[in-house]
Amino acid sequence: MSFPKGFLWGGATAANQYEGGWNEGGRGPALTDYTTGGSVKESRKVTWIDKDGQGHATNQVPFDDALPEGGVKYACLDGYLYPNHEGTDFYHHYKEDIALFAEMGYKVFRMSISWSRIFPNGDDEEPNAEGIAFYKDVFTLLRQNNIEPLVTMHHFDTPIALVYKWGDWQDRRYIDAFVKYAKVVFTEYKDLVKYWLTFNEINNTLSCINIFGGNISDEDYAKRMTHLHYQFVASAKAVKLGHEINPDFMIGCMLSGMVTYPHTCDPKDIQENQWSMEENFWYCGDVHVFGEYSPFAKRLWKAHNVKLDITEQDLKDLKEGTVDMFTYSYYMTNNVTTHEVEDKVAGNYSAGIRNPYLTYSDWGWAVDPDGLQYSLEVIYDRYRIPLMIVENGLGAFDTVEEGDVIHDGYRIDYYIPHIEAMGKAIDNGVDLIAYTTWGCVDCVSAGTGEMRKRYGFIYVDKHDDGTGDLHRGRKDSFFWYQKVIKSNGEDLSK
Ligand code: BG6
Repeated sequence: MSFPKGFLWGGATAANQYEGGWNEGGRGPALTDYTTGGSVKESRKVTWIDKDGQGHATNQVPFDDALPEGGVKYACLDGYLYPNHEGTDFYHHYKEDIALFAEMGYKVFRMSISWSRIFPNGDDEEPNAEGIAFYKDVFTLLRQNNIEPLVTMHHFDTPIALVYKWGDWQDRRYIDAFVKYAKVVFTEYKDLVKYWLTFNEINNTLSCINIFGGNISDEDYAKRMTHLHYQFVASAKAVKLGHEINPDFMIGCMLSGMVTYPHTCDPKDIQENQWSMEENFWYCGDVHVFGEYSPFAKRLWKAHNVKLDITEQDLKDLKEGTVDMFTYSYYMTNNVTTHEVEDKVAGNYSAGIRNPYLTYSDWGWAVDPDGLQYSLEVIYDRYRIPLMIVENGLGAFDTVEEGDVIHDGYRIDYYIPHIEAMGKAIDNGVDLIAYTTWGCVDCVSAGTGEMRKRYGFIYVDKHDDGTGDLHRGRKDSFFWYQKVIKSNGEDLSK
C-alpha cells in the first residue's frame, strides 16, 4: 500500500459550523443562522415569525411563505440556542488553528467561504471589503505554512436575503448571483487558492428524500429538481469562468458519498439499488463530469411529472463547465430493499436498515471501510478524473481528563482501516489525490446541531448548552495523524 508522493493529507471544515462571527465584519445572515441546536431524538428546528409577528419553530423551512408575498421572516427566537452563530470561532482563532494544522503537518485544509460574508445580501453591488480581507489573511497564512487551501464556495449557507427574493433556488437569477460571487473570490484569491469546490453535497437535495425515508409530493420533487438544475448551471458557469481567471485552478464538484448496497440478492433489490444509486448519486455526478443529464434522468422526471426550465444556453453551459476533479464525503453505506425489514438502526442521516456485517456509531452510522474502497473504485471506473475524499470521520463522545488529555483511541481505530482502504484503491489504479478528515477541529454537527458529536483531532472547549471558553487542545489522535502524514500513510500504528 503506497500513497503517491505529494498526496494531500489534511482536514475539513465548513463556515456555517466552524467560522462563527455571524454578525461581525459586515457579514449578512445565512439560512443556517436560523437553525437551532438539536439531537438524534429531537431534530433541529428552523425559527421564523409569521406575518402577525408570531414565532414558530418547525422542521420544514417555509421557503415559499418567506417570499415577499408570504410575509414570513426568519428570526432568532428567545429560548433557543443557535450554535452556528459562533461555531467554534475560527473567526477569532484562525491563527492558532492554522498553527495547529501546521504542527500536524497538513498539506491541505478544506474550509468554506461564507457567501454572505462576501456579499451580505447575496447580490450586493460591491463586495464587503472586510470579508474579502478576512479570507485573504487566512489563505495567506495557510500558504505561509505550506498548506494548500481547498475552498468550498457554498456549504448549506445560502444568504437569507436571496431566499426572501427567490425561495430555495427556485429562480434562475440565482445563477448570475452565484457566478458574480464566484468571479469575486476567484479573482481576489487567484494566486492563493488552487483547489475549489462549488456546492457541498449537492446531491443531498435528492438523497435526503430517498435514503432517509419519506414520500414527497410531485410538486416538492419538482422543486428539488429545479433547485439542482440551477445549481448545476451555476456550478458549470463558475467552473468555466474559474479556468479563464486562472487556468491552473482545479475545480471540483462535491457529493455526499451515499453509497448503497442491495440488502438481499433478490434481483428486485439489485434493481432497486441501481435506481437508488442513479437517483441519489449518479444524477448529480454525471451532470458535473459529463456535462449533460444521463439517460435515466428522463425516467425520474416522467415519474414525478417534472418539467424543468432547461434552456439551450444551459445545455451549452453544462458542457463547457465540466469539473476537473470529483470529490465526495464518505461516512457510511446504507442498504436498500424492496422487502420489509425489522432490524433497524436509529440515527440521524441513516437509512435505517441494519447491515448485519457492520458495526454502528453512537449516532447510528455504519462503520464500513470496505465501502470506502468499493466506492472509490466504482466512482473512478465511471469518471476517470482525480478523486478526493473531502470528508470522513467518526462523530463520537470525547472525555476530557486531567490536564486536558483526551484518549480517543476509538477515533484512531476508525481511521486506520479507512486509510488502508484508500491505499488499496490507489494500488488498484484509482487516482486519489487528497484526504481531508471531517471536523478536524471540533465544530457544530450539521445534522443534530450538537457539540458533543465530536470529530476533531483538535478539541474545542464548547458544549451543547453554549458554554465553554473555546480553548483548543490536542487529542491522542492529533499525534497519531501527525505521524501518518509524516510517513505519507506508511505508519498507521497506534
Ligand atoms: C456532511 C456535511 O454531510 O456530514 C458536513 O458536509 C457535516 O457539513 C458532516 O458536518 C457530518 O455530519 P454531522 O451531522 O455529524 O455533522
